[in-house]
Amino acid sequence: MASSRGEFSSRFGFIMAAAGSAVGLGNIWGFPTQAASNGGAAFLLVYLILAFCLAYPALMAELIIGRHAHANAVNALRTISPGALSRRIGTGVGVVGFIVASLILSFYAIVAGWMIAFCISSLLQLVGWGGGAEWLVSFGMERNVIFMLLFMALTVGIISEGVHQGIERWSSRLMPVLLVTLVLLVVYVLTLDGATDGLKAYLLPDFSQVLSPKLIISALGSAFFSLSLGVGTMLIYGSYVSDKENLPSLGGMVTLVDISIAVLAGFLVLPAMYVALHNGVEIFNEAGNLISEDTLIFTVLPALFDTMGIAGIVVSVLFFFLMSIAALTSSISMLEVPVAYTIEEHGLSRKKAVFIIGGLIALCSVVILANFSTLFGLVIAVTTRYSQPLLGFMFCVYAGWVWHRDNLLAELRKGNPDVEQGLFWKIWPWYVRVVCPLIILGIFVQSLFG
Ligand code: PFF
Repeated sequence: MASSRGEFSSRFGFIMAAAGSAVGLGNIWGFPTQAASNGGAAFLLVYLILAFCLAYPALMAELIIGRHAHANAVNALRTISPGALSRRIGTGVGVVGFIVASLILSFYAIVAGWMIAFCISSLLQLVGWGGGAEWLVSFGMERNVIFMLLFMALTVGIISEGVHQGIERWSSRLMPVLLVTLVLLVVYVLTLDGATDGLKAYLLPDFSQVLSPKLIISALGSAFFSLSLGVGTMLIYGSYVSDKENLPSLGGMVTLVDISIAVLAGFLVLPAMYVALHNGVEIFNEAGNLISEDTLIFTVLPALFDTMGIAGIVVSVLFFFLMSIAALTSSISMLEVPVAYTIEEHGLSRKKAVFIIGGLIALCSVVILANFSTLFGLVIAVTTRYSQPLLGFMFCVYAGWVWHRDNLLAELRKGNPDVEQGLFWKIWPWYVRVVCPLIILGIFVQSLFG
């Protein structure tokens, strides 16, 4: 059954695809700026603990359920449910998951479109076409729609090719390019004046903030968003993994790659900000905090590149190219969630499903763009701050409580006959049963009332 619905052909292919999903705008943009405004290395420490102790076990829950069922989330949660009620709730969780994945893609495509526009703008600057370059970096409906559509077209094109020819082939090509580009940029930026101040801001911990609820909630949200959890993305990628593979080690590698790239991106973004400061660009807002999020990426960094002459233009092309690639390997995993569901539950051909769903998501993006000030922030908050952790909670509950323990063990034994003797089987089952749901819920409640 597995091969007729597509399968990753190698460990490397899976790791590139899953790490490609995980490594995205969240790593290169979100993580470094959050670290900067939440206590530097103190945030890093909390993030690492949450990533390994909470996000990795939750990732494993999705991968194992997916591989067992070799099916989309709706079908998979139904498969492992013993009773009618759990089957019904499982269906609901799967359906909400694919709606949330589609909504995440609808705002992600807008932001990724800006990245492509900024990259092309710098290329135009290189060839001396200032007018075109200016239009590409100016916020406007036409530009936003055109580049969102371009990005969606790339995503649709890759997903229409299927698991092996599309997702695996493109992730395996793009991820190494991403890594090389990131390393080149880090090395270059670290040679510039002012970079060491950025390193200090990043690496000197401010422990006064470590236990603040705000910091822990930010770090949890980041870890879940960063590992693409809660929406069935990792579940569907897990469903394309061969039964021969050792899942805990595959999941560990994906977590490691994801965290390493986020940490590495910190060595680019924070030093770059302080180089900007050194060059006379304002990097603090009125409240005295570091400028973050969209203003950082689309105002501070371009202002920095402007102060660096021709080298700045080249760095700008590379930086926005890096962002575009990171976004693309993530967006394909988001689109695969509703596409796999539609193919498997409604019998559509892959091409038809991809075009219909891609079109509908692009339509959502247009609606968000037309009501930008009200919808953009709202969709991001609802999907990433609330839905992802809550859905992640449900996946843990299904793996830990609903699914029969013997079947879970049988699934893990497939790629790892001695799993019962290992550390993973000693810790993970009760972890995913008790620790993960309790902590996710605790932090969530705290974020609502705290
Ligand atoms: N992990 C991606 C990032 O860090 O940018 C975002 C993401 C991808 C979220 C896929 C959700 C998802 F299903």
